[in-house]
Amino acid sequence: MRKVLHIVGARPNFMKVAPLYQALRQRGRLSQVLVHTGQHYDVRMSDVFFTDLALPPPDIHLGVGSGPHGEQTGRMMVELEKVCMAQKPDLVSVVGDVNSTLAGALVAAKLCIPIAHVEAGLRSNERTAPEEVNRLLTDRLADLCLTPSRDADDNLRREGVEEARIHFVGNVMIDSLLTSREAALKLPTLSQLELLPGGYAVCTMHRVQNVDDPTVFRRLLEALVEVAGRVPVVFPVHPRARKMMKDQGLEELAAKAAGLRLVEPFGYLDFLSLTAQARLVLTDSGGVQEETTALGVPCLTLRDSTERPITVAEGTNVMVGTDKERIVGEAERVLAGHGKRGRVPERWDGHAGERIAELFERYLLGEEAGATEAERGAAVAVPVALPG
Ligand code: UD1
Ligand code: UDP
Repeated sequence: MRKVLHIVGARPNFMKVAPLYQALRQRGRLSQVLVHTGQHYDVRMSDVFFTDLALPPPDIHLGVGSGPHGEQTGRMMVELEKVCMAQKPDLVSVVGDVNSTLAGALVAAKLCIPIAHVEAGLRSNERTAPEEVNRLLTDRLADLCLTPSRDADDNLRREGVEEARIHFVGNVMIDSLLTSREAALKLPTLSQLELLPGGYAVCTMHRVQNVDDPTVFRRLLEALVEVAGRVPVVFPVHPRARKMMKDQGLEELAAKAAGLRLVEPFGYLDFLSLTAQARLVLTDSGGVQEETTALGVPCLTLRDSTERPITVAEGTNVMVGTDKERIVGEAERVLAGHGKRGRVPERWDGHAGERIAELFERYLLGEEAGATEAERGAAVAVPVALPG
């Protein structure tokens, strides 16, 4: 049986791989190996998602852990190379834009193993952001660029990616959301936090540009303190933000407002329950911008640019940057009932995982899976032999 090797490592990878993994398993025509790099390792940043998303434990865990970019990516590559040499997969599948994504793509490319990139084509055009570098390089190397929205297709075309490599499959992250929403809404998450539906805001922050810069982080926390004076704000604190808050001596500021509740990161289902019933979400997360659009919940994004412009063009997202007055003003608008309304973008319909699974079969099984002449050509043109 031909083999797909999935590489994941960080929180936003797990809800993207789950629907694809399940779809391939149900179809039963390709074998799968799930590799976890260990980029994220806290239970609340990793293990909880395997339970919440009904993913089996990883077949291989590399335990790479944290470190500066070169060191972390390098350690992943050393270990992933060994895994790929031993496993000899027919396709390596990577998701999103984290260091585990790029490490997987680089290793596969050097071993001449075809690469699929789930969530290809997103661009913030901010070259200083590590995620943008990961996106650019991974797409350059990918044989299958699987895009969540048509703007991503256009970005790839502009960069000279051939049409045959671009596949608009829709948003796989929203598959997980739609599968889990009902179960999430039945959880006692709100009552445990003594919150009422529509009576609170949720905030997440972890981008390097926001939390590593003491001036920006202070400003953002000051804005949150003001918002928390008007509505309770639940802030599950990402480990990077937690560390920065401590290092920058901002813990006291954050503790100042009674309405601002700093808590540990939530599991997938609890967080979905919270966001789905929130009055307002403030975030710098990529994925949360999409989820709020899918849920129809107003989102204020604490950044100046987004790689997910469709959430602004069609969804509930407003880019508010990091200016305190602007953030507080926009939050007040939402609280006064003028939150942005939107529609759910094309192919954010819960079937992206199935579309990708079908594409993988056509790519790897060719005629057997009913591939067209062009797809068969693409499949046989790819070198599959491994050196060594
Ligand atoms: C990474 C991704 C970012 C993504 C985010 C999702 C890269 C370059 N960045 O950022 O794109 O949005 O994940 O959450 O891949 N830490 C812990 N426990 C953990 C994981 C991390 O304490 O389980 C702490 C460590 O101090 C670590 C720091 O968080 O040094 C940063 O972790 P890292 O994975 O390097 O980057 P993130 O900021 O999490
Ligand atoms: N998320 C979660 N618990 C939290 C915060 C976020 O389960 O406390 C989920 C969120 O629903 C989304 C994903 O984590 O599915 C987004 O990951 P993150 O914000 O860490 O990364 P980004 O999308 O910015 O790369």
